[in-house]
Amino acid sequence: MALLEVSGLSTSFALANGRKALKAIDDVSFTLEPGEILGIVGESGSGKSVTAFSLMNLLDPPGRVTGGSVRFKGQELLACSPRQWRALRGDRIAMVFQDPMMSLNPVMRVGDQLVETVRVHHRRSRAQAHAQAVDALARVGIPAPQERMRAYPHELSGGMRQRVAIANALINRPDLIIADEPTTALDVTIQAQILYEMKQLVRETGAAAIWISHDLAVVKDLVDRVCVMYAGRVVEQGPVAEVIARPLHPYTRGLLDSLPTPEMRGATLRAIPGAAPALAALPPGCAFAPRCPRVRGACSEPPAATVVRGRTLRCFYPLESA
Ligand SMILES: Nc1ncnc2c1ncn2[C@@H]1O[C@H](COP(=O)(O)OP(=O)(O)OP(=O)(O)O)[C@@H](O)[C@H]1O
Ligand SMILES: [Mg+2]
Repeated sequence: MALLEVSGLSTSFALANGRKALKAIDDVSFTLEPGEILGIVGESGSGKSVTAFSLMNLLDPPGRVTGGSVRFKGQELLACSPRQWRALRGDRIAMVFQDPMMSLNPVMRVGDQLVETVRVHHRRSRAQAHAQAVDALARVGIPAPQERMRAYPHELSGGMRQRVAIANALINRPDLIIADEPTTALDVTIQAQILYEMKQLVRETGAAAIWISHDLAVVKDLVDRVCVMYAGRVVEQGPVAEVIARPLHPYTRGLLDSLPTPEMRGATLRAIPGAAPALAALPPGCAFAPRCPRVRGACSEPPAATVVRGRTLRCFYPLESA
């Protein structure tokens, strides 16, 4: 059985004055096996965070999941009660946010927060939970973890704070970690370090992870498979090495062409012309059509998801199909 099976997940934001609700994500489907790392990439506004928040039942009104299914170890998450969610979240499923202060309490010592995360979910003595917390801090590469336990979040650098948030997410050895751009605000060296450590930790603990980023280059060495999102839909999904070596969707091709490579130092990057559509003005067919170099008549209908050589694709005219 897959660890996580997301199918047809759709989320809308209701608008005031009876205007038509905005579809932020539409028919998102993917599965995650234990121990696997899945990347979700796409431009700003493509629905990455809404996907994560929908999965974690963290959407605030007027956002609402309007359809689909999310099965975690066979359990339908969309049908969980608040009590069931409190038991799952922070224990079996953990989330790391872009801003570490989303999960840290500014007026509580780092150590006390970690101890609490353990003791909310498990019967442990304070001493046992304390030892577990020191160990978690050490595992995410925090020097002198014993002393850091007494620090308040504001006494730590951004990179250290994010490490604490990651330690807090990992401390109960969750089966699934969802990380929403947790390294974007950090400088590249620290970012690379955290990604490397994250990969080790996932391997060590056997957890599965979803790693969200707007930058395919950032996640390509971390993830096993990747979902490319555009305007709320997954347009291409497959093993990351294959997607990068041979993109099938014209949007994925465009994303890859806009990444800098060492060979093209000094050359101008090729950005995808145009801008992503606003949710209130989504084209009726393929949302990428207005920017697509391969657009043809059929693209005025929305393309269904099809499986092409082990990839899931939403495109009538994929690359390499002439
Ligand atoms: N509370 C809200 N009300 C209305 N629309 C919203 C709300 N939250 C998000 N949206 C819309 O949903 C769409 C998807 O947003 P989302 O935050 O998932 O994008 P993202 O891919 O995470 O982008 P970024 O890379 O900037 O984080 C956007 O068009 C956004 O404007
Ligand atoms: Mg986001």
